[in-house]
Amino acid sequence: MTANGKKVFIVYFSAAGSTRHVAEIMEKRFKELGAEPSLYDLTENKDLCQTISQQIRRLGNDCCLMMGSPVYVSHAAPPIMHCISKLASVDGSCAVPFVTWGGASSGISLFEMARELSRKGFTILGAAKVLAVHSLMWQLENPLGAGHPNSADDKLIVQLVDETYSKMQSGGGKDMELSRLAYQSKEVHAEMEKVTLEMAKALMPTRGVDEEICNQCEVCTEFCPTDAVTLSPYPVFGEDCVYCFNCMRTCPEGAIKADLTEVWERIRDRAAFFKERPHTQIFV
Ligand SMILES: Cc1cc2nc3c(=O)[nH]c(=O)nc-3n(C[C@H](O)[C@H](O)[C@H](O)COP(=O)(O)O)c2cc1C
Repeated sequence: MTANGKKVFIVYFSAAGSTRHVAEIMEKRFKELGAEPSLYDLTENKDLCQTISQQIRRLGNDCCLMMGSPVYVSHAAPPIMHCISKLASVDGSCAVPFVTWGGASSGISLFEMARELSRKGFTILGAAKVLAVHSLMWQLENPLGAGHPNSADDKLIVQLVDETYSKMQSGGGKDMELSRLAYQSKEVHAEMEKVTLEMAKALMPTRGVDEEICNQCEVCTEFCPTDAVTLSPYPVFGEDCVYCFNCMRTCPEGAIKADLTEVWERIRDRAAFFKERPHTQIFV
């Protein structure tokens, strides 16, 4: 394989589309640079990680894994962490984790992704956190992160790709200091470690299905990124639900209902508490 033909695996999970947007910017830029990027959507193929794992092992430092997740309750989304856990150990491959976050806090998502990838033997070449519209605020006129990722965010993503590619061409490069991604204070970091999406589920509003309106069209099952919705005979939400509310957002009849008012208040409180800056940042 020539230096210009380096393979890039861009793997992402994206319930509402922002992380997909970042992944697509990366794909476009890698193509412009002459690399061979492939986009993999975890929501489409749950066994993806086992499938690409062998290819990554075989290609060694001729490939790089770009891995993208939304931030869910300060962590990367569970399907992404699950995917990383399924990767076989590698020797010489590199990886770049990236997250999109909704303006409350990017939490410890990047640090945890990088740490787990590093434990699998990946050399971490860089990372990025990108501000995006908060996906739980779609019903609001002025959601946190409105208008993001914007063109300035996109430029930073392109810069990250350029830096990554240049390191790949020069034979890999050095591992990034993981401590750079532990940018929360020690106390906040420790608190965030304790709280999981599983625990936060208890604070999420109950979804109701209006059986008078629901016509069992299956759109909710189709758009659920974790296949957690089944019709029995009306929508039922299973254990794998990550509370992205795609079912409610995409229901053409508006038959799935939940009151997110308290969730929005908590999100705004957290944004005001953390005041996280910079919003979008690349680590190279
Ligand atoms: C269940 C859930 C939890 C979230 N937790 C956070 C969070 O802790 N901090 C934050 O800033 N944004 C949070 N968000 C917002 C998403 O991280 C953000 O909108 C992201 O860009 C969504 O990515 P996607 O469009 O690719 O799905 C959360 C969203 C959901 C659905």
